[in-house]
Amino acid sequence: MIPQTTGLHFPLKTLRVLIFHLLFTHFCKGQSHVIGPSQPIVAKVGDDITLPCHLEPAVDAVAMTLEWMRSDLNSIFVYVWRDGQDLVHTKHPSYKERTSLSIDELKHGNISLKLTDVKLSDEGRYQCYIPKLNIQSFVDLVVGE
Ligand SMILES: *[C@@H]1O[C@H](CO)[C@@H](O)[C@H](O)[C@H]1NC(C)=O
Repeated sequence: MIPQTTGLHFPLKTLRVLIFHLLFTHFCKGQSHVIGPSQPIVAKVGDDITLPCHLEPAVDAVAMTLEWMRSDLNSIFVYVWRDGQDLVHTKHPSYKERTSLSIDELKHGNISLKLTDVKLSDEGRYQCYIPKLNIQSFVDLVVGE
């Protein structure tokens, strides 16, 4: 009796793993996700930089609402794109006139954020978030003097 039960364990486990993989690939297939950098972005004070984030597969994101936030600072808004425009009044004052997206790039699912005149206080964790798809990625920024 015992050897029989033990004998059953291996195929069952394999089956479970197989089912998991099938479900996993099924649910992920064709679904968008955002890709950020695997390494922190390193900048110096005064630099103009780009915080990478792009949709995979690439889809036109111009009509979507897009949010860049500081996930380490109560999710203050760094940049909000809604109804085809920069929602300036939602942006935290410390990022006023320093953040932008490229509409041409948005058409190709590239949500990378341009940040000009980098300050020491810009150092931190940035979140690129697409509410409609409920997907996000994170970018760490390190600032040196
Ligand atoms: C995304 O756009 C930025 C400019 O906003 C560009 O520097 C970067 O290379 C683009 N990334 C991809 C994956 O196309």
